Amino acid sequence: MANPSPEIRFEKTLDSVDWDALRLELIADDFHNGRSTTQLRESFENSRHCVMAFVGTRCIGNARALSDGVGNAYVMDVWTQSQFRNTGTGTKLMQLLLEQLPGQHVYLQTDDAIEFYKKMGFKEQPEGLFKVVGDYLQSQ
Ligand SMILES: CC(C)(COP(=O)(O)OP(=O)(O)OC[C@H]1O[C@@H](n2cnc3c(N)ncnc32)[C@H](O)[C@@H]1OP(=O)(O)O)[C@@H](O)C(=O)NCCC(=O)NCCS
Repeated sequence: MANPSPEIRFEKTLDSVDWDALRLELIADDFHNGRSTTQLRESFENSRHCVMAFVGTRCIGNARALSDGVGNAYVMDVWTQSQFRNTGTGTKLMQLLLEQLPGQHVYLQTDDAIEFYKKMGFKEQPEGLFKVVGDYLQSQ
C-alpha cells in the first residue's frame, strides 16, 4: 500500500480544525450526514479520540472513536477527501486511532469499505441492533 504524501499532516487534537470549512468539505465530497457545524464540532469534541489529516490549513481526512478507556470503543466518521484517496491516508488515520485503543474491542458499522477495514484486521460480525431515540440529530 502507498504511503500518504509527506504534505499530509496528522494531528490527534482538534486545535487546527476550521469546522465551517470541514462541514463544507464533507458536503462537497458527499460524506455529510446532516450535522450542523455545531453538531459536527460537538460530535468530535465529545469523542475520546480523534485523528485529523491536513494539507496546510485544509482538513482532508478524519476518524474518531468513542471509548470507555477500558474494553470497548466505537469508530466512526472515517473519511479521506476523494482527491487524496488510495494513497494510505485512511489507513494512517485508522492506525493512529487504533494505537490509542490498546486492549479494546473496537466496533464499527459500515455498508461501504468493508475490504478497507478487513485489511486492517477487522472481522465481520453478525447483524447487530440499533434504535434512534426520537428523530436523528434532534436533541432538543
Ligand atoms: C474508506 C476510505 C476512508 C479509505 O480511505 P483511503 O485514504 O482511500 O484509504 P487507503 O488509501 O489507506 O486504502 C487502504 C486499502 O484499502 C482499500 N480501500 C480504500 N477504500 C476502499 C473502499 N471504499 N472499499 C474497498 N477497499 C478500499 C485501498 O484500495 C487500499 O488497498 P491496498 O492496500 O491493497 O492498496 C475512503 O475511501 C473514504 O473516505 N470513503 C468515503 C467514506 C467511507 O466510506 N468511510 C468508511 C465508512 S465509515
